[in-house]
Amino acid sequence: MPATVVVGTQWGDEGKGRVIDNLAEKSQMVVRFQGGNNAGHTIVNEAGEFKFHLIPSGILYPHVTAVIGNGVVIDPRVLCQEIDALRGRGYSCDNLRLSSNAHLIMPYHILLDAAYETQLGKRKIGTTRRGIGPAYTDKAARLGIRVQDLADKKILRQKLDTAIGVKNDLLEKVYNSPGVDPFEVMEQYAAYADKLGPYIADTSLLIDKALKRGEKVLFEGAQGTMLDIDHGTYPFVTSSNPIAGSACVGAGVGPTAINEVIGVCKAYTTRVGEGPFPTELEGALGDHFVNKGIEFGTTTGRKRRCGWLDLVVLKYAVRLNGLTGLAITKLDVLSGLDQINVCSMYEYDQDGNHINFTDFPPHQSQFYHCRPVYQTLPGWKEDITGARMLSDLPVEARDYLDLIVEEAGVPVKIVSVGPGRDEVVEPDGN
Ligand code: GDP
Ligand code: IMO
Ligand code: MG
Repeated sequence: MPATVVVGTQWGDEGKGRVIDNLAEKSQMVVRFQGGNNAGHTIVNEAGEFKFHLIPSGILYPHVTAVIGNGVVIDPRVLCQEIDALRGRGYSCDNLRLSSNAHLIMPYHILLDAAYETQLGKRKIGTTRRGIGPAYTDKAARLGIRVQDLADKKILRQKLDTAIGVKNDLLEKVYNSPGVDPFEVMEQYAAYADKLGPYIADTSLLIDKALKRGEKVLFEGAQGTMLDIDHGTYPFVTSSNPIAGSACVGAGVGPTAINEVIGVCKAYTTRVGEGPFPTELEGALGDHFVNKGIEFGTTTGRKRRCGWLDLVVLKYAVRLNGLTGLAITKLDVLSGLDQINVCSMYEYDQDGNHINFTDFPPHQSQFYHCRPVYQTLPGWKEDITGARMLSDLPVEARDYLDLIVEEAGVPVKIVSVGPGRDEVVEPDGN
């Protein structure tokens, strides 16, 4: 299948980076299409561990062109750091391309992200404070500064003057916080322009040409379906659309180009930041996932909230993304549990109304009050990190996978049993 979109089916951190790394071996191009350096995608290979925030996870293969599409918001400071860090480890980054239409995260976006969160107090979103929301806000408000603006210092200065005037007023007069120095910002961004210049390209055209040559192109989602600004647990979401449809907009390809959509689903659930999470676990069981799954944010280091797998959420993700296949990750983390719960339905009881939701509730306040209804399956004790074929897995683990496939109505293409590149089971053996 030449064009495959890979998306998260939960609240992010499902293991998208490692799945992309697995699929990229047989692909020629990997394209990020939304989000920014709120993302943290981890890959573990023979050379050690890599954490990517902006650079597409395919960069480690010299045969792959790694593309940052127009839908991504780019903090050039972070991108320059990532390029330097990779170069320091022997990767040239000559295969990196950056869309000239992508928007830039500016220093005032980061200050505003923090100011909004502080002002919200107890009602805060729990953002990564990387300036993501304010950057997308400016894109929609047509006040944004784009990668192509870096190419012309005169235009960059004009756009900066307009934007900084407005933003400094907001920071200083409304949020009582220091503004930014326009000269300093101009100097910094002019330096980024020199460094990033060689990577800037018409990436929509590059992708089209690759597809026309019959090459395999992967579209790498960031965040997850439940963090989607339209379909997720609003307002506790990110400011972009992590669902598969967004790949077309954020990369500049038509929907008919996409052949396959793989949903990455952790064998349990995690969430970072605030917002509802029906299957969340506290106490010893929650700690099992935190400790065994090493569930700490790749970007902010925050402890992730952990809970059982939620099939209502997974079915919602199947629908919203048009999934054609699943990648189930971190199955090894379930080893050692006596019993495993899976949420197959929600119960809602308010004001004399009793509703059983097998589909995701249409109203946010219903979701807030839902209680998970669990099916309980027997666990397994064996260490499964050495499994490479389905038949290597204990029968209880295979039954768990069968239940997921049956409920989701979508086949499993990849099962991961450890963070390493080879720690996978591919049921079809492809
Ligand atoms: P992403 O944001 O979706 O790419 O996921 P993250 O990289 O933020 O988080 C996934 C974490 O789980 C990373 O630390 C991975 O190295 C790790 N990981 C991925 N797959 C597996 C697996 O099958 N088993 C275990 N134990 N860890 C895994
Ligand atoms: P990857 O790609 C998990 C969460 C934040 C917060 C909310 C809004 O690694 O899966 P933002 O900074 O985007 O305005 O924060 O979204 N969030 C993520 N959670 N994984 C991510 O990315 C995330 N990116 C944002 O924690 O709750
Ligand atoms: Mg992550």
